[in-house]
Amino acid sequence: MTTLLSLQTDYPLRKLNSFGIDAHAQEFLSIDHVAQLHALRANEALAGMPKLILGGGSNLVLPDQVPGLVVKIALAGKEIISEDDTHVYVRAEAGENWHEFVQWTLAQGFGGLENLSLIPGTVGAAPIQNIGAYGVEMQDVFHSLDAFDLGTGEVLTLRKPACRFAYRDSIFKHEYKDRMVILGVVFALPRRWEPKLGYADVTNYLAEKNIGAPTPADVGNAVIAIRQAKLPDPTVIGNAGSFFKNPVVSAELRDRLLQSHEKLVSYAQPSGDYKLAAGWLIEQCGWKGKNLGNAGVYEKQALVLVNRGGATGKEVRRLAHQIQLDVQKKFSVMLEVEPVFV
Ligand code: EPU
Repeated sequence: MTTLLSLQTDYPLRKLNSFGIDAHAQEFLSIDHVAQLHALRANEALAGMPKLILGGGSNLVLPDQVPGLVVKIALAGKEIISEDDTHVYVRAEAGENWHEFVQWTLAQGFGGLENLSLIPGTVGAAPIQNIGAYGVEMQDVFHSLDAFDLGTGEVLTLRKPACRFAYRDSIFKHEYKDRMVILGVVFALPRRWEPKLGYADVTNYLAEKNIGAPTPADVGNAVIAIRQAKLPDPTVIGNAGSFFKNPVVSAELRDRLLQSHEKLVSYAQPSGDYKLAAGWLIEQCGWKGKNLGNAGVYEKQALVLVNRGGATGKEVRRLAHQIQLDVQKKFSVMLEVEPVFV
């Protein structure tokens, strides 16, 4: 074993996943330098093992025992790398905490990331599911990222089209899953910033505070307050944010559902389809605030599954499956799970 790598066996992961599942890694490595990834590839025993690349662990459901090698990405650093007439380019290494990075940009007066305040997880995990909130997706301000290919040992720079970003999705959930290690991400923050105020919650908050011409930090503070009121703090109640994607259905199905459910929450899409509020569907099935074993549905937002204490990955899976069955039966809509099941 090269001295660059300090391998730990049967490593506890409870504090490394936001669901707070008491999982253990068969083998565990923390990476704080790219040289360690090269060393990992050069080590025959480790190179052949199945791997789970771990960022902030905020979008995962773990089993009790994670087989193979868990690689925790702890690369640190953030900097302004360049500026031009239209943008400021900032880079953060993959292990940086997302919210702290957003706050760092806002403290310097740079707008662009404020609607994504307080999202749990790391910078390196943000592109994987193209995090989004309050009318902004990460891809809107994304410039490029560097990734280490565990297959070839190459470091690649990927621009937006290569990442295949979509709603809570990217190539890193598919072809590049467990193969590409995101090292750092560059964001292009606009010099001529305009607030994204499409959400009533945000505009109401600003109006209440009498803020007529908000700064990026004002919008960030609004988003922080809204999230704190609606979503459970994962350091207190284990959770992985929204557990299902909001499903997109045909206009025909939406019209049919409206006939029997006049309060159906739906949003027209540019394609002519409709996005339904999964939280509403789940609430209508009676699941809001309910538990199944030690897993439950958050009482203030039915789209968020929570750990009531000591929940296993199996219990979370069972609850998610039961909700999918009930929503399918009542609304003929199959909810797609959003976090990654390991
Ligand atoms: N609703 C209910 N009952 C509930 C929850 C929601 O009826 O228990 C209805 C309400 O009518 C509400 C509507 O659903 O107006 C939408 O709810 P909300 O604004 O809370 O947003 P969401 O669609 O449930 C999405 C994202 C969140 C993001 C918010 C705000 C997804 C899967 N989730 O939730 O993202 O913060 O919008 O933009 O798209 C995450 O991905 O982890 C996440 C938290």
